[in-house]
Amino acid sequence: MRNLFLISTLAFWLAVGGLWVAAPDRPPPVADPSPRDETYGLAEVARHATQEDCWMAIGGIVYDFTTYLPVHPASPALMLAWCGKEASEAYRTKTRGRPHSPYADTLLPRYRIGVLVP
Ligand code: HEM
Repeated sequence: MRNLFLISTLAFWLAVGGLWVAAPDRPPPVADPSPRDETYGLAEVARHATQEDCWMAIGGIVYDFTTYLPVHPASPALMLAWCGKEASEAYRTKTRGRPHSPYADTLLPRYRIGVLVP
């Protein structure tokens, strides 16, 4: 019984030690599975300024909101005005001096298509 205890304890610490040693070799978790970000300038974003094709740049990220436009809780026209544009301030304030909810923020990554370049 005592031997069993000693062997179990030894096995436990060997396992912990093994994990500790192995950990530094493991890559960090990947937050964004896309292999490489596309890059777009504002001129390219501006080519997508309609209800059927709506891109925006918000906080340095480029989004394609075409499919979100019809389901935006406020009138689609409110968002449509910002299609093809740098819309950080409009998104931040809703053009009404109040920010979008944290829930709205969680929707953004679904529409991300790349990053904005000068
Ligand atoms: C950039 C242009 C945009 C403007 C001007 C705008 C404006 C507004 C306004 C006026 C409202 C309703 C009134 C209010 O709640 O105060 C609203 C609500 C909302 N919008 Fe936008 N919006 C924009 C973009 C977006 C985007 C890109 C998303 C997400 C992908 C989004 C998600 C929501 C959600 C979820 C609500 C419900 C209230 C909340 O959660 O904050 N909007 N927006």
